[in-house]
Amino acid sequence: MVAPRPAIIVHGGAGRGSGEWREARLAGCLKAAAIGWTALESGRTALDAVGEAVAALEDDPLFNAGTGSSLNRAGEVEMDAALMSDTLEAGAVASVAGIRNPIRLARKILEDGRHVLLTGRGACDFARQAGIPLVPPETLVTQAQHERWKQDHGTVGCVAVDREGHLAAGTSTGGTPRKLPGRVGDTPLIGCGTYGNGDGAASCTGQGEAIIKVVLAKTSVDQLTSGLAPMEAARQAVALLARRTGGQAGVILVDRLGVVGYAHNTEEMPLCHIIGGEEPVTVF
Ligand code: GLY
Repeated sequence: MVAPRPAIIVHGGAGRGSGEWREARLAGCLKAAAIGWTALESGRTALDAVGEAVAALEDDPLFNAGTGSSLNRAGEVEMDAALMSDTLEAGAVASVAGIRNPIRLARKILEDGRHVLLTGRGACDFARQAGIPLVPPETLVTQAQHERWKQDHGTVGCVAVDREGHLAAGTSTGGTPRKLPGRVGDTPLIGCGTYGNGDGAASCTGQGEAIIKVVLAKTSVDQLTSGLAPMEAARQAVALLARRTGGQAGVILVDRLGVVGYAHNTEEMPLCHIIGGEEPVTVF
């Protein structure tokens, strides 16, 4: 039996045309992966590592999640996030405002265990009870000069395996720009934008309406279960999405041995992976 290698891979959203932001976005992915890797290296769980890495991306205004989230048609931030472990424990939030790190709220819901997905006001009430402070929603809106750029990008995510061989997946997003208020994408829907089980963990990015229709995260992990290597599993899953929906998306994957895979049919999907303590690898 091959021993698992700790591994982590993060993505900063599938999209197009980062232009002048390209290097900064890659640096953001590298920083988030390093934060997650430090957690894994110190013996913390994959769930901890994924939560820390996604929170770092949420705090970086260059990504469409947490601070820097897209605005809906009413000019408001409404965010979605989910976290799942290979034990099938899961927590998710949809359409939340005034939460600096939706992924941390998703973790509290996972730990609480009564429900998987809380939305809007109920999620914010839960946050207060769980000791997560609410912030004025406008503090999550970044400078107007990022507005055009933000329209082309979406979602952050991370998957990891820890040294015990446990897997986790997490995803966070502000959703699509100018979405109708109340619209929920794939990110917080378990199996669609985020999924993990004993075979693998997956986090998706791209057009939520297309991703939901092919349950892309679970479809990707199912490809691993059927025997494909992670890179081929990711490619097959994205090809299936393109064939069946005509949509655009990306996915990152890790299997329980710490082998990573990724694929997208968009112009770009910045990502960074760190495997077994090797040098970080960034890919645009
Ligand atoms: N993939 C993120 C969204 O559609 O909301």
